[in-house]
Amino acid sequence: MPEIYINNKKYPFNEGDTVLEVAKRNNIYIPVMCYLEKITPTGACRFCLIEIEGIDKPAAACVTYALDGMKVFTDTEKVIKDRKRMMDFVLIKHPLDCPVCDKAGECMLQDMAYEFGINEESVPSVKPDKPVFDWNFIINDTNLCVMCERCVKVCHEITGCSALKIEERGFNNIINTTDGTELNCDFCGLCVDYCPVGALLDKPYKHSVRSWDLDKKNTFCNMCPVGCEIEVNIHDNEIFRCRSTENSFICSLGRYAFKHPEHKDRIETPLMKSSGKHSEVSWSDALDEFKDRLNNIKERYGDESVALLLGSRLSNEAVF
Ligand code: SF4
Ligand code: SF4
Ligand code: SF4
Ligand code: FES
Repeated sequence: MPEIYINNKKYPFNEGDTVLEVAKRNNIYIPVMCYLEKITPTGACRFCLIEIEGIDKPAAACVTYALDGMKVFTDTEKVIKDRKRMMDFVLIKHPLDCPVCDKAGECMLQDMAYEFGINEESVPSVKPDKPVFDWNFIINDTNLCVMCERCVKVCHEITGCSALKIEERGFNNIINTTDGTELNCDFCGLCVDYCPVGALLDKPYKHSVRSWDLDKKNTFCNMCPVGCEIEVNIHDNEIFRCRSTENSFICSLGRYAFKHPEHKDRIETPLMKSSGKHSEVSWSDALDEFKDRLNNIKERYGDESVALLLGSRLSNEAVF
């Protein structure tokens, strides 16, 4: 089996493994931002820089394949300096709006800047003034984007929707819809879940609750019989956000319809129609009426004339 040296220790690897994959498998820390196990590596953020013996330039661990006998270093002074330089480069055009940014508290850039010991802007910079797109359920503040390409890739490689693209180049690049108009996708929100910063946000969540005040619970979506695993974010007994979990990929209904129990038009008591008008009745009256009508149908047309359609997530007890 081929072997690679990481920080002077030998590790076996499989053909086709990247340095990052070998490091992760052996609990060797390399910071990452654009990397996601679920998508093909992009090599966009360069926070995973490593040093390779015999090579002058630093390499991105997520897109560098391990080679037999290769010697890499993940924590030298030079590597740490190179990563900090990348952070400086990103911060040149990133507004330092953390106090008023909805992503604060769960932002990879904020955490990483702290981890790298960045406590001031090392390069005085003019922040961009780029568009903020209101895409129905999703807000895209292109000023906050770090061009990690995660959104484009999860949309293309996981959902198969390919609704997003990178537009323009260099300082002016932004994430936009593929055809440059309104976002017209299924609104699964996976791009929001995997955006490492506050560029893509759920509109219903924006300026509602600080992330650290949310109680995050994994449960099952009950909007349809599929029963996807879902992360529900609660504050003060109220749901503020629903997201996919590590293992799930929820749809727009599970993600954005969580306010339906509070909708003003929600029917909370049974209604009976008489003389063309609906009026409220008690549950026992409604069930008695239902039973009488079913019995009438059975008497007139026989036992086989009645069928009930039930949600597949009901327990046997509830069904009978
Ligand atoms: S995206 Fe992150 S780093 Fe940028 S302003 Fe928001 S919290 Fe701060
Ligand atoms: S919008 Fe978010 S996920 Fe997409 S490229 Fe920008 S930072 Fe990355
Ligand atoms: S997330 Fe969508 S598919 Fe999954 S259970 Fe909820 S409604 Fe059904
Ligand atoms: S994690 Fe390797 S370049 Fe972004």
